[in-house]
Amino acid sequence: MKEEISRVRLSYGRALSKRQFLDRFYELFMSSSPIVARKLALTDIAKQQELLSQAVNMVILFPQGNKIARNAINRIRQSHNRDGLDIRPEYYRFWIDSLVLALSEHDPDFNDELDRAWRKVAQEAIDFIVEGH
Ligand code: HEM
Repeated sequence: MKEEISRVRLSYGRALSKRQFLDRFYELFMSSSPIVARKLALTDIAKQQELLSQAVNMVILFPQGNKIARNAINRIRQSHNRDGLDIRPEYYRFWIDSLVLALSEHDPDFNDELDRAWRKVAQEAIDFIVEGH
């Protein structure tokens, strides 16, 4: 896992250096399902993107047991649960698919191995968030 995390961090850095990356992720996520679009309809996109770029860092640091990441992901677990935003477990697939697709378009070194590494790393935080639903 350690090996995957460092490759994923480098990949994220390369993608973030491209101005369009976060816009594209948001656009893909919005259009991935009418339910996601409806949930996100009232959000402030600029604010959301700033939070999102931070949140992805927390998702990456989570599997190593990083304390700050654990707290951040725990907050997301609470805000997204059935008493809050009520994000059902099946919507997280749209989130990771959109992220990986946006990465594949913006990280010039993206490949199948990185695709698998991203999904493996992100699954830990997703499982933890979903368990709290
Ligand atoms: C691992 C995946 C995800 C991460 C890391 C994440 C992260 C975040 C963060 C950091 C926020 C802002 C602060 C907060 O409310 O906690 C947020 C808000 C939100 N997220 Fe997620 N999220 C994820 C998945 C999803 C999914 C699958 C949906 C489905 C539609 C979703 C819908 C929303 C909505 C509607 C908001 C509220 C926006 C607002 O208040 O303006 N999120 N998310």
